[in-house]
Amino acid sequence: MTARLAILLSGRGSNFAAIHRAIARGELDAEIAVVISNREDASGIARAREWGCPAAVIPSRAGASREKHEAALLDRITASRADLVVLAGYMRLLSPAFVRRFERRIVNIHPSLLPAFPGLEAQARAIEWGVKVSGCTVHLVDDSLDGGPILVQRAVPVEQDDTADTLAARILEQEHIAFVEALRIVVSGRFRIDGRRVVVE
Ligand code: GRF
Repeated sequence: MTARLAILLSGRGSNFAAIHRAIARGELDAEIAVVISNREDASGIARAREWGCPAAVIPSRAGASREKHEAALLDRITASRADLVVLAGYMRLLSPAFVRRFERRIVNIHPSLLPAFPGLEAQARAIEWGVKVSGCTVHLVDDSLDGGPILVQRAVPVEQDDTADTLAARILEQEHIAFVEALRIVVSGRFRIDGRRVVVE
């Protein structure tokens, strides 16, 4: 059965665009159930509207309670009948209760080769550390920060004269490929989890 995706984003939405394109080309057996942003000004949400995807903004204001925000998120996702929650540049942490609700059905992308550089500004920290290789990781979400079982990683070289922006751009190209690859694994259901390892069957 075609998987229904709830895409959560906070910004540009280039990963969302890559997923949308893969679906349109028949490269990923999924449909977009809803695109949700916590920011009205996210260009990703404008793209979703332009392409006719169901779209919603559920704002997260400083000081507003996480419970209320997540309850609204949960309502919208449930109403969309999504099977999977896809974090495509969603810049908010989800509570353990939310994660449990969608156990092994939340997928995140992170711009480093985890477990190196979890959290914010991964590309700048990779450069500061002096690593020679970085990349991206797509993983299932558990209640740790960027710590769930890894589905796909793709590596890129770090060049001597890289800035955080040039490295981010190189990684981003690989993100678009890795995300689609990882979602193909998840929607096929042909994988199992052995300890921390995702074993593709
Ligand atoms: C990506 O670098 C992703 O790894 C990170 O946020 C960025 C989102 O980019 N979590 P975009 O909005 O998909 O273009």
